[in-house]
Amino acid sequence: MRANPAQISIFVVAAIFLLVIFGRIANEKNYVPGSLVNGFSTALGRQTTQSFMQTSERLWAKTVKERGELRNVIYGQSDVGLFPAQTEQTLAAYPFTIWDMVPASYNCPFEVERVGRMGEGGKWVCGMSRYEKAKSPVVLYSMGIQNDTSFEQQMMARTNAELWAYDLTIVDIAPFIHPAFRPRVHYQQFGISGTTNPHNVPPYFSILDLMAQNGHDYIDILKIDVEYAEFQALSSFELATRQPGMEFPIGQIIIEIHLFHGDGTTVNGPLFLDWWASFEARGMRPTWAEPNLLTVTMKSEDEMPRLAKYSWINVLDTRGKLWKNS
Ligand SMILES: *[C@@H]1O[C@H](CO)[C@@H](O)[C@H](O)[C@H]1NC(C)=O
Repeated sequence: MRANPAQISIFVVAAIFLLVIFGRIANEKNYVPGSLVNGFSTALGRQTTQSFMQTSERLWAKTVKERGELRNVIYGQSDVGLFPAQTEQTLAAYPFTIWDMVPASYNCPFEVERVGRMGEGGKWVCGMSRYEKAKSPVVLYSMGIQNDTSFEQQMMARTNAELWAYDLTIVDIAPFIHPAFRPRVHYQQFGISGTTNPHNVPPYFSILDLMAQNGHDYIDILKIDVEYAEFQALSSFELATRQPGMEFPIGQIIIEIHLFHGDGTTVNGPLFLDWWASFEARGMRPTWAEPNLLTVTMKSEDEMPRLAKYSWINVLDTRGKLWKNS
């Protein structure tokens, strides 16, 4: 059978393709470094964790710079709100929402995995395999759970995590925890706040006072979903731990942010961005974001997308299980 010109060109293209592929594989062998700085491989495998983190830091810093510039433009003159693009005209003037100003621009140097139920309750964890390999117990704090324990239970199934859990609304968490995990769960019906008020019913506690009560000076993972109380609770913790030479004592924060308005809430664009930056200053970097669109679909609040989940990791942390084999 004689090949027609179309068949010949397909053959030529295929041959070039194979040459390129084999050339790549041969080259990539030479990229593998002799040693990995921290003794474990990274998301890219061919880079050391340190060089990967340098790249992540650069990508994050770029968005911090852009945020500063955009902030001057939009909040410099007047407060245009958190979701200024609502018509063709306002979209042209303000083509973004507040969430665009805090992108999850720091690439987690490990795998990112959604842990827990698909949908409500599930959370994104940077470096799940690092926690799975940990020898000492993963200190997991969970604030704001209700009866939705899919994240906490999967963490306990996959790692040796010990859980300290708090919620305003649930008297006992045991009915929502598999019996096999209950010995590793410590639960109290407490609210989370910037200042402790033990006389309230139920009592309110600051994060620092809860840690002191439990004898902790470090948390591996803090999951916090406390319906707006996150602003005061985390601010007071950040201020209290802002001591000379003191690291921010949390390895990873998995947070749901509630930009509520009305009913005594005061958060606006500049306040939110200052709050956010105060954690970046301590080494927290946003590695993942997921919008929670329930205020839109359930037509609550003003139907604006006021909720979002973020996963922050602490890159200045020297104790954390992400960076140390412990
Ligand atoms: C959790 O509470 C909600 C509403 O109160 C209820 O519909 C749901 O069945 C509960 N889930 C579990 C696992 O008990």
